[in-house]
Amino acid sequence: MILPIYVYGQPVLRQDAEDITPDYPNLKQLLSDMHETMDRADGVGLAAPQVGLPIRVVVVNLDVLSDDMPEFKGFRRAYINPHILETAGDLVSMEEGCLSLPGIHESVKRPDKIHVTYLDENLQEHDEWVEGYLARVMQHEFDHLDGTMFIDHLSTLRKQMIKGKLGNMLKGKTRCAYKVKTVK
Ligand code: NI
Repeated sequence: MILPIYVYGQPVLRQDAEDITPDYPNLKQLLSDMHETMDRADGVGLAAPQVGLPIRVVVVNLDVLSDDMPEFKGFRRAYINPHILETAGDLVSMEEGCLSLPGIHESVKRPDKIHVTYLDENLQEHDEWVEGYLARVMQHEFDHLDGTMFIDHLSTLRKQMIKGKLGNMLKGKTRCAYKVKTVK
């Protein structure tokens, strides 16, 4: 089932999301719905708060990039209760966008390597270092679980530049090809 994507201004995007227990109701269905919703919106990642749920669940699909990055052929994952323990490596700039911020694309600086723990879709525990593009996507998505959006990382000047677009979102004026839920 395709879920509406919550857009900037929705309070759930600013909440601290909670870890879930393994008996969280209909988890398999939720993961399936989140994958379907992300695919329909052409996203590479989607966090549960973006579909209105303040829980620590994220889905990622990097297979769509595998023409350019063959290492991601067939890469589709779920991350349950993820936590970043530490970061390392250089700060790298890369342009980001977000399904909850339609029409905004800005360069964001993030560390290149992260040490993460999470459960996969089979509730197996992982404790690993991740780097490069996947580390970038994970940091963006896991930020959502702490109520952070990528625009929070921008300079005061860049924030000023996108103020108009954010204002329109608060007024319910969004232009995108997928189903959204705005505050108005
Ligand atoms: Ni996002």
